Amino acid sequence: MFEKKTTEATPYSSLATIYDFVMRHVDYVHWADHVEALILRHNLVPSTMIDVACGTASLAVELTKRGYRVNGADACDEMLDVGRSKVLEGGYEIGLYHRSFLELERLERHDCAVSLYDSVNYLMCVEDIDRMFENVHGIVHRGGLFIFDVCTETNSIRHFRDMRERERGDGFSYVRHSYFEEGVQYNDFKIKFDEPRQDVHELHKQRIYPLREIKAAIDRSAFALEAAYDGFSFREPSEESDRVHFVLRA
Ligand SMILES: C[S@@+](CC[C@H](N)C(=O)[O-])C[C@H]1O[C@@H](n2cnc3c(N)ncnc32)[C@H](O)[C@@H]1O
Repeated sequence: MFEKKTTEATPYSSLATIYDFVMRHVDYVHWADHVEALILRHNLVPSTMIDVACGTASLAVELTKRGYRVNGADACDEMLDVGRSKVLEGGYEIGLYHRSFLELERLERHDCAVSLYDSVNYLMCVEDIDRMFENVHGIVHRGGLFIFDVCTETNSIRHFRDMRERERGDGFSYVRHSYFEEGVQYNDFKIKFDEPRQDVHELHKQRIYPLREIKAAIDRSAFALEAAYDGFSFREPSEESDRVHFVLRA
């Protein structure tokens, strides 16, 4: 009797092919509407944008449809590959670059940078947050904006303290166990692919920062904090918010 081996995979390397299924509840049209609302409120008329940690480029595609010239960067090549197929199929002109927040070298400057869906939470220490700000500042024109979001501890405790879900899609199934321990949000994925038959394990870790730590990092950076909002609104954020959008001026 053969025991089926589970392959340990780095975050997103296997999830990439099923990421759009996992995220099918996310309305990227609404997310792009909100990005545009923030840009308008903060008096920017951008022509170029870059989505840092763009994943499979869903937001980049949506922003491109609205007439911006968009690029994307992500640390995971497998996510970018899914994005590249989407871009090719749709005939969009989007440059997708394999870059980490921590190494954004050789990218041109843009009028606006965005980084959404708690991608920044993948940075596990404030030193990396500082470095990310420094690097993003280097790819935004003076006077341009950097819009990003983070998740709060409230969000982790409210929705992901001990959450299990089991899903089946076309050619795969997965079990996801989410839990929160000592400031870290864990998403533990066990994925079964039918063809070829393979079991994969991916453990995702996200550091959940108190908002004052993010604000302190912004103060240390070359960006100026223009505003922080309770997710998808123009209300004041607090630790009770699930998600907070920050708008920084370069
Ligand atoms: C939750 S997904 C969000 C993707 C995309 N922004 C979206 O809204 O669908 C998080 C993304 O962050 C990327 N990521 C994680 N750590 C990163 C890093 N250090 N630099 C750049 N991207 C990173 C992952 O590869 C993944 O694509």
